[in-house]
This record gives sequence, structure tokens and C-alpha cells, in this order.
Amino acid sequence: MTSDRPVMADLQERAHGTGHDYDAGSPHLRHPRLRNEIIARIRALVAEQYERRGSCRVLEIGAGHGSFTDHIAAMGAQVTVTEMSRPSLEHLEARFAYNPSVRLLYDADGEAAFSDDAEYDLVLCISVLHHIPDYLTFVGRTLDRITPGGAFASFQDPLWYPRRSRLNKGADKAAYYVWRLGQRNIVQGVATRARRLRGRYDEGNPADMVEYHVVRDGVDDAALEQLLEAEFRSTELWTYWSTQAPLLQAGGSRLGARTTFGLTGRDRLPKQ
Ligand SMILES: C[S@@+](CC[C@H](N)C(=O)[O-])C[C@H]1O[C@@H](n2cnc3c(N)ncnc32)[C@H](O)[C@@H]1O
Repeated sequence: MTSDRPVMADLQERAHGTGHDYDAGSPHLRHPRLRNEIIARIRALVAEQYERRGSCRVLEIGAGHGSFTDHIAAMGAQVTVTEMSRPSLEHLEARFAYNPSVRLLYDADGEAAFSDDAEYDLVLCISVLHHIPDYLTFVGRTLDRITPGGAFASFQDPLWYPRRSRLNKGADKAAYYVWRLGQRNIVQGVATRARRLRGRYDEGNPADMVEYHVVRDGVDDAALEQLLEAEFRSTELWTYWSTQAPLLQAGGSRLGARTTFGLTGRDRLPKQ
């Protein structure tokens, strides 16, 4: 698998290149209610660490343009950020140029978080696990870096498709296509969809490889929760509706439909 990693970095870069607008296609960035809910949850986790130890060291995986890094840094935390897209890293370098509390790591192979033996009080993955092929192993390895009493949180990944009803998946897809119709690259979208229906993936195509688990089976929320349960005194699975189009976001939330999840582990147990 080692030789595949630079390929993935190249694909991530093509999908998140110079001028990429993270907000446009990301429900958790474009809908204020959802974005604010995630910010509030992150702030509470940072505050808990301050109360516990008077400081907070955060590892944020795949920060994009730093929409959430801003809030963590504003609370005075020491933040280490990894980012696989060089153009996005350059954006972060400009954004945090004079902030010595923010350490930025270019993540060409998905290993940057493990390149030294640093420990963290909070590890954050926001809208990133679905990009990582073997996310269970990856999360397990990040848990090893969390100090006793520390926390892990991940937000904005698709719930595991095999446990969702046909109606739920249908509504999710329909909401996506309503939004997609108003976007450019419709032809490309249809071609991608056709490949997915045939269960075929093009390993050179960012559409199939970057949204890795969105185009496959979603992210296994239960397996992740089980992983966290073994390491933390408490865990919380938060499930919610998330889609791109604003009216459908409001409608789906009101109906209580759930397509997406966040997962938090608090108070890490002492390491064995
Ligand atoms: C959907 S964006 C989310 C960005 C940001 N977390 C947010 O919520 O605004 C996913 C980001 O993760 C980066 N990425 C994907 N896989 C990664 C990995 N294994 N390590 C570090 N960054 C990764 C991508 O380059 C991209 O910037």
C-alpha cells in the first residue's frame, strides 16, 4: 500500500487544489446552524481540557483552509495541523503565518501525524475520515497519541450505508442530485454515478478516490464507536441530517432524518 500513498496525495491535491472553495460543497461549512453546532462541540472539548490541565494540545487531521483551526487557535490551544493538499497547506501557512501556536505539517503520505512522538490532549478529524481508505487503523493509531484524560472527536462523515433504510438513502441521494443539477460538470457527475452504479471505481479519478467512503459504503460509525469505547470513559455518537441545498437541509433536519455522524470519546483511560 505504501506506493499508493503519493497517488492519494496527488488525487487529494487535484480535488482540493488552488482556489478550491471548501464551503461550496460542504454542508457543515455552508449551513450556519450545522457549522455553529460543530464549533460549539469543538470549543467544549477544548474548554474541558483547559479545565482539566490548564492547557490543550490539539492535533487536527486534514484541516483544509482552517475553518475550525481558527476557533481552536482563538482559544489559545497549541494546534498541530496535517494537510495532504499542498495548495491548502499554503493557504494555511498564509493564514497562520504569525501565530506560533499553530504548527503545520504537509502530509504527503497520511503519516505526518506519526512523524514524531508528540502527544495530544485532543485529536480532531473534521470531514476527513471518509477520505482515508483504512480509517479504522488510522483512528486507532491516533488514539495512541492521546494523553490520559484527553479526547477524540470526528464530525461530518456519512453513516454506514448497510445500516440505513432504502428510504433514508434515497432521500439523501435525491437531495444531493437536486443540488448537483444546479452545479457545473453535470456530464462528469452522470459518468461518475454510472460507474458507481456498476460498482466500478477508477483509481486515477479523484471523483472515485477522494470521496473514498462516500462512493463506497459510508463510514462504519458502530466500528469506530467500539474502537473508542475501549479507550475512553465515555463516548457519544451524534447523528444528524446533512445535505448541500439550504432548503433541503432545513427540511431534512426538521423531519429528523439522519445521514451523517459525529463521534466523540472523552476522558481517555490510562494507557496499558
Ligand atoms: C473535506 S476536506 C475538510 C477540510 C476541513 N477539515 C473542514 O472541515 O473544513 C478534507 C481535507 O482533508 C485532507 N486530507 C485527506 N486525507 C488526508 C490525510 N490522510 N491526512 C491529512 N489530510 C488529508 C484533504 O486534502 C482536504 O483538505
